[in-house]
Amino acid sequence: MTSISRRQFLMGSASLAALANLKACAIHSAAERTGLASAYGDDFLVGTAISNDTLANDNQHLKTLIARDFNAITAENCMKSALVQPRQGQWDWGLADRFVNFGTQHDMHIVGHALVWHSQVPDDFFVHTDGSPIDRDELIQRMETHIRTLMGRYKGKIQTWDVVNEAIDEDKGWRKSAWFNTMGNADYVEHAFRLAHELDPSAHLIYNDYNMHNPGKRAFLVDVLKDYKRRGVPIHGVGLQSHVGLDYPDLQEFEASIEAYAAQGMRIHCTELEVDVLPVAWEFTGAEISTDFEYSDQLNPYADALPTDIQERLTERYVQLFRLFLKHRDKIDRVTFWGTHDGESWKNDFPVRGRTNYPLLFDRELQPKPAYFALMALKR
Ligand code: G3I
Repeated sequence: MTSISRRQFLMGSASLAALANLKACAIHSAAERTGLASAYGDDFLVGTAISNDTLANDNQHLKTLIARDFNAITAENCMKSALVQPRQGQWDWGLADRFVNFGTQHDMHIVGHALVWHSQVPDDFFVHTDGSPIDRDELIQRMETHIRTLMGRYKGKIQTWDVVNEAIDEDKGWRKSAWFNTMGNADYVEHAFRLAHELDPSAHLIYNDYNMHNPGKRAFLVDVLKDYKRRGVPIHGVGLQSHVGLDYPDLQEFEASIEAYAAQGMRIHCTELEVDVLPVAWEFTGAEISTDFEYSDQLNPYADALPTDIQERLTERYVQLFRLFLKHRDKIDRVTFWGTHDGESWKNDFPVRGRTNYPLLFDRELQPKPAYFALMALKR
């Protein structure tokens, strides 16, 4: 991204005055941000996800670190529908407001996650008060109310939205979720994009999913993107969640996906990056949150500390990934980590609960790990 287009991207369709203001803010931020975001400032945004715990307990130490090293933030949980609208018409803005205020205060690129997802939907979303299932028209109405209220509250503050999350089921085509089944087809996806664009024409709208290197998923999504382009469905980017491990996925497949989505005019976002260092439980590498395997000590080999050889492999894996990202810096707008330090990663509990994982750049004491220094060194 050129510096001008990056500024426009940060601001949406910014006025000249707003742009001048942003320039002043950027100078201020540059002084403040001396870590990763500043090192990769000419390449892409470097983001992190902020947990509910950080927001609820006002973890100042962690927030200071985040402001130093990152220039983009994603709401890990606080904007999911079950949290922000736990019952129809009942909104809980507390943590979402704190999240947006933090990003605004630090001139960060703010990502709203996620408007439409099959998981973490409130119990009453797909049913009437008597428990009977809602129909297609009611679903559209509820979706519109949800998107309109959420986007409306933060219009002009949130620059990017994960509009639809995980609507494709590996290489089986559209996921047969409650959204799909109630609608009777996948039209809810394009409906969500059209509505989001109408509500905030300057917002950057992305489709976000895991295992995006999967050739079957890639081929299906490329066909969808071609169809959307032909029919003018407003989608601007693709989010590759990037929940990867030491040995998976094959980075050539990952690269093929970056190229394939970009060839359809999509900006690329690596939206939920971390590197799982633990043994793969029964060959499972997905991110479908309902998955849960039984704990065993064998599956949790580094409960006390991470051995040096695995730490080295973690560092090397991050270096390989960032070399790939740098190679495609013309296509990639943002690389966001799914959390800041190992202690808060969802990977400690997924797909096996109660393990000790080490997937991020900062350890449990908030100290930068060798992988962090290696990524900084890549830019020197
Ligand atoms: O808030 C409750 C808390 O009150 C309770 O004490 C605790 C006990 O387990 O649970 C807390 O809720 C948890 C919530 O995270 C907040 O920590 C849920 O059980 C837990 O299921 C939830 O997990 C989140 C998961 O999405 C499901 O929404 C993870 O933190 C979050 O990292 C993960 O993120 C998803 C992305 O949104 C989409 N892509 C995949 C990614 C990983 O699944």
